[in-house]
Amino acid sequence: MPTIRFRLNGSDTAIDADSDQTLLAVLRGRLGLTGSHFGCGANECGACYVMVDGRALASCDMPLWSVAGKEVTTVEGLGTPEHPHPLQRAFIAEQAMQCGYCVPGILISAAALLQRKPSPTEAEVREALDRNLCRCGSQNRMVRAVLRAASEMAAP
Ligand code: FES
Ligand code: FES
Repeated sequence: MPTIRFRLNGSDTAIDADSDQTLLAVLRGRLGLTGSHFGCGANECGACYVMVDGRALASCDMPLWSVAGKEVTTVEGLGTPEHPHPLQRAFIAEQAMQCGYCVPGILISAAALLQRKPSPTEAEVREALDRNLCRCGSQNRMVRAVLRAASEMAAP
């Protein structure tokens, strides 16, 4: 079984795994990081998104070997209950969720957007979240939350 080494939420990580295991299965089943959710399993819903070298990507169909040497960030790496990410604070302030199942993936898409575009327009936020499905209808609140976080992060 090969050993795959990568950076995970800022720490060096090494794990032995079958080459056909997905990153999502390893995160949830082996590493106890259950924030990334399984939705469609087919790169169509965004519930499992993680950031890989700054890009929000589906982990449900991503073989573990493909992240060797890369920087992976899951929702657990964005912030903590004691020190939440501005996006996490803004989602709470805007009450931008109902069941919450889609939210980890949406936070990852939003965080990737704010890394490459710190002051996005509303249209750019909508485009960045376009691949993330939310069945509860919280999308408008989520867009407001991302814009709120961007303003907070831009404040001196
Ligand atoms: S579970 Fe990965 S995109 Fe839906
Ligand atoms: S808050 Fe329920 S699916 Fe988005």
